[in-house]
Amino acid sequence: MPTPTDYIRRHIRTVPDWPSPGVQFRDITPLLSNPRVFRVLIDQFVHRYFDAHPTAIAGLDARGFIIGSVLAYELGVGFIPIRKKGKLPFTTVEESYELEYGSATVEMHTDAVKPGDRVVLIDDLIATGGTLMAGAKLLERLGAEVIEGAVIVDLPELGGSAKVRASGLPLFTLVEFD
Ligand code: PRP
Ligand code: ADE
Repeated sequence: MPTPTDYIRRHIRTVPDWPSPGVQFRDITPLLSNPRVFRVLIDQFVHRYFDAHPTAIAGLDARGFIIGSVLAYELGVGFIPIRKKGKLPFTTVEESYELEYGSATVEMHTDAVKPGDRVVLIDDLIATGGTLMAGAKLLERLGAEVIEGAVIVDLPELGGSAKVRASGLPLFTLVEFD
């Protein structure tokens, strides 16, 4: 029997040179299309956060929405989308950051969290860490505590996970790829 993390790792597809030459794209769609491995994946996060009693789960646009919304549903708490700029209709706070390939700005509604909220911040993958750090800053700016950042895939060679941990934000990662 493979361990849950081996089972998850085996269902992540590597697509070379996408979206640009030299990038090894770690594609989670095979994890999502297989109902057994999708359940094993979600259960890893449910078990980790069940006793932490977060008040909400925040997910990063777009792949963090897939994992984060199911986790929120399972834990019986609300889901907060942190979106790419220009998609949210109400008043927002925003943060800009650099990506492995390009740059971006994320936004969150100003009423998404309030002081005292305890939030788990979810994405599929951490590369340079810019996206996760930007999401955490938005939540903290509105007074929420980020209990932990959590991702399926860590690309440690790109330095993001080390940067996030050095900032003092706890980070949970399931599998690593070079
Ligand atoms: C990817 C990934 C993370 C982010 C990680 O999203 O899903 O959100 O990059 O990179 P970083 O650690 O260097 O910030 P992307 O911006 O490609 O958007 P998508 O989910 O809409 O494809
Ligand atoms: N986001 C940033 N870098 C990535 C990679 N190598 N694979 C999948 N998503 C990514």
